[in-house]
Amino acid sequence: MPQRAYVDGQYLPTADAHVPVEDRGLQFADSLYEVAAVFNGQLLDWPDHLARLRRNCAVLFIPLPQSDAALTLIAKRLIAQSRAADAILYIQVTRGTARRDHVFAPGLRPRLIMTVRRFDFRQRAAQQKRGVSVITVPDQRWGRVDIKSTGLLANVMAKQDARAQGSFEAWFTAPDGTVREGGSTSAYIVKNGTLITHPLSAHILPGIARQTLLRLAREAQIPVEERPFSLGEALGADEALLTSTTAPILPVTRIDGHDIGEGRPGPVAARLIGLVADEIARQTGWR
Ligand code: PDD
Repeated sequence: MPQRAYVDGQYLPTADAHVPVEDRGLQFADSLYEVAAVFNGQLLDWPDHLARLRRNCAVLFIPLPQSDAALTLIAKRLIAQSRAADAILYIQVTRGTARRDHVFAPGLRPRLIMTVRRFDFRQRAAQQKRGVSVITVPDQRWGRVDIKSTGLLANVMAKQDARAQGSFEAWFTAPDGTVREGGSTSAYIVKNGTLITHPLSAHILPGIARQTLLRLAREAQIPVEERPFSLGEALGADEALLTSTTAPILPVTRIDGHDIGEGRPGPVAARLIGLVADEIARQTGWR
C-alpha cells in the first residue's frame, strides 16, 4: 500500500497529492503543523496534539473548520488505509490560497493536509542502548518558536549541520549560553538525580513528549526542575536526554564532542526509558 494523504476532502496516494502554488503555506510558511506517533495502529497522546494544533490556530487567527471529531476520523481513516502498524501522522494547516500578499484577506478557507508514513520506532532501541551525540548552534529562529509553524529554515540548517558532523541533533543556545531545545526535539540534563529542562516560554516548543516525560518522572518521584540551564552546566551534567514524537526518549552521551558523565547512558535515562515504554504500551499495546 503506498503512503496515503488527505488534502481538501480527498484521500489519495501521497505521490498524487498536490496543493496550489499560491497556497500561503508555500508562499509564506503561513501554516502550522503537528506530528503524531502511531504505534500498533493507535495514536499516542492524540488529544494533546489536537489541543496544541487548536491553540496554535487560535494564536494565528486561522479558523480551522474541522471539529476534533472530524480530525480524528480523517486521521484514523488515513491510518487504516495506509495499513501501517507503526507510522508517523503529519498534519499541516495552511491559512489557504490567495493571490500573493503578505496581508491576509478575511474569509480565506484554511487548507488541511494529512499524511501517514510508515516509521520504524524499533530503530530507537539501539540508539537508546548506545546514546546519541549532539552539537550546539546559536539559536537563529524567530521569537515565537512556541508556535508550531512550518517556518523551520533555521531548524533545517541546524540539523543539517549536526548530520554533517555525524551527530543526531543540534541544540540551540541563546546569546547568554542557555540551552533551549533541539532542532526537532526537547532537551534535558540530569544532575544529582534531578531532571532539568528549559521552562515553557516563547523560546521553546511545548513538546508533547516533554509533557509526558515530566508527568511520568514526577509520578515516579524523580525530581524535576523546569529552569534554564547553560551549556557549561550541560557539559558538567551526569546525564543528558532528548525527547520528541519521533524519538520518544534518547540518552545524549556527547555534546560538542565532550562525553557527558561516563559517556554512556546513565541510570536516570534507563529508568525514564522504561517509564516511557510502559506509557506507550498502556496507550497503544505496543512493546
Ligand atoms: N518536532 N522542539 C522542536 C523545535 C520540535 O520541532 C519538536 C517536534 C519538539 C518535540 O515536540 P513533540 O514532543 O511534541 O514531538 C521540540 C517534530 C517531531 C518534527 O518537526 O518532526
